[in-house]
Amino acid sequence: MCGIVGYIGENKAQEVILSGLQKLEYRGYDSAGIALLENGEITVTRAQGKLEELKKKFTNTKSKASLGIGHTRWATHGRPSETNAHPHSAGRVSLIHNGIIENYLELKEELEKLGCEFKSETDTEIAAHLLNQEIKNGLEPFEALKATCKKVRGSYAFLAIDKENPDRILVAKNSTPIVIGFSENQKFIASDIPAILNYTKEVLILEDGDIAEIMLDSIKVENDGVLVTRKTQTINWDPVTAQKGGYKHFMLKEIYDQVEASVDTVRGRIKNSKVVFSNIDFSVEEAKSIDRIIMIACGTAWHACLVAKYYFETLAGIPCEVDYSSEFRYRDKPVSKNTLLIPVSQSGETLDTLAATESISKLVKTLAICNVLGSSLSRKVENVIYTQAGPEISVASTKAFTTQLEALYMFALFLGQERGILNKSTIHEKVNAVIKLPAAIAEALKDEEAIKKTAKLFYQSQDFFYIGRGICFPIALEGALKLKEISYIHAEGYPAGELKHGPLALIDEDVPVVVILQKSDVLFEKTLSNLKEVEARGGKIIAITDSPKIDLISSVASVVHSVPFISGDLSPILMTVPLQLLAYYIAVFNGTDVDLPRNLAKSVTVE
Ligand code: AGP
Repeated sequence: MCGIVGYIGENKAQEVILSGLQKLEYRGYDSAGIALLENGEITVTRAQGKLEELKKKFTNTKSKASLGIGHTRWATHGRPSETNAHPHSAGRVSLIHNGIIENYLELKEELEKLGCEFKSETDTEIAAHLLNQEIKNGLEPFEALKATCKKVRGSYAFLAIDKENPDRILVAKNSTPIVIGFSENQKFIASDIPAILNYTKEVLILEDGDIAEIMLDSIKVENDGVLVTRKTQTINWDPVTAQKGGYKHFMLKEIYDQVEASVDTVRGRIKNSKVVFSNIDFSVEEAKSIDRIIMIACGTAWHACLVAKYYFETLAGIPCEVDYSSEFRYRDKPVSKNTLLIPVSQSGETLDTLAATESISKLVKTLAICNVLGSSLSRKVENVIYTQAGPEISVASTKAFTTQLEALYMFALFLGQERGILNKSTIHEKVNAVIKLPAAIAEALKDEEAIKKTAKLFYQSQDFFYIGRGICFPIALEGALKLKEISYIHAEGYPAGELKHGPLALIDEDVPVVVILQKSDVLFEKTLSNLKEVEARGGKIIAITDSPKIDLISSVASVVHSVPFISGDLSPILMTVPLQLLAYYIAVFNGTDVDLPRNLAKSVTVE
């Protein structure tokens, strides 16, 4: 989720780019840089940390450049550092990139054979060298960028400048957003509208496969070799909305980010219908030697571990225990070198999870699931699988949770594959299911307005129950936590089969029961009978389901929200989406501070 800004116009490129990057800070980043083209030379300035660090490098100079590109980096390949910050240069070009180049290692090998030398650990630097090579081979810059994009596999928004052509910015877009703004004698390019809204409201949005050449008096766009015209539109956001990329709250933005995040979390990890993790050192022998998995986490991440227990036990045949980090760290535990410890943490900075990891990391194998490259947790374990969800700003975890489930599912498939538990056709079938996730999440999000209506019906309730069974029981816990932490309403998650062992005493017409009811032969009927127990006591039922038996469910539930069904394994991910929206709108109707709820912090770095 990097930030990108480009500018052609009056001699204020530095000012426009830096202010534009400031407007994109909400996307989260760990370093920044800018390339300014003046008098036939490109000057690149970069800094680790916040934009202030970059601005300090300009205190004594004010560039008069009228063309430049700037970038805020959220590290995906290569730790946060000045060397890894964009722009990256090669020969006469400088380039910035938002996205993930899947085949960067093979491209890097080819380029090294041509004598290219690399200074950074990034995938982006590969693209800069590719572009420079194509120009050296005699192609015009625009054609050179087209040739570069033909070789790159993955997601990208490239902006590139060429010191031999100081009147244009080259742009390529695939899976990662790019908008182009224009006003009298100025052109603006950005990864998101807020960056340019202070200068213009007239924009056009590039589409996947678009290659563009932006000049002061022209915009040329080609797609698949054919000239195309993208329609312009006028943006009427207010500044506060603009700051959150058009959403009222970061939480809603991040709920919608799940479509892109679910693509990025799988990106580069499926090859020829096999699961591959290029950045982990895990041999087949090691995969076969594991006889026990212990997962530790806190809060939402702990719920992800509860779902993953099903994945590791059914797909990899490995017994799996799940523990709260805050409990695990103080307990003596018999472990061995054949135990795999999997700490799960969005931030990688949760003190309890760091301490719990440290308590046995020398005695066992360790592999973390984490969303932040270079975080403390990523430096305490042997291997890390990143969730590639981009920065999660809102305290309530949403896209981090669903991408944790996706990453854990992929790792369980990987272990099952390496241990010979899963045959090729099973892997192929399950991998194809994961590929369907982004579209299914997008489909589930279409129910937003209906869920908003449900929230309006129930937002004044003071107590909620969330119930589920099997692999969806942890989703009941997650739904309850989402509601609690942002609306301050008491909510409990329970296994549906446990209601009659006590909680049923609390059920009456003022206690809504949210049921996560997955498509399943056995569990569906059992849960339906639990719902009849609730209904018989006047309880109002809100059903979340991927089952086609809507009429049957509607016979006991006041409201039914459906999500697409892909597979039983992936139901937990899709069932989470309406629960996130329900919690969000109940909180909005209650007027709480959705993104910064009272008493809570995004990362709990204390005991
Ligand atoms: C979830 O919505 C909460 N923000 C909280 O439970 C969070 O999941 C927990 O603090 C763990 O954080 P981590 O994933 O960064 O370790």
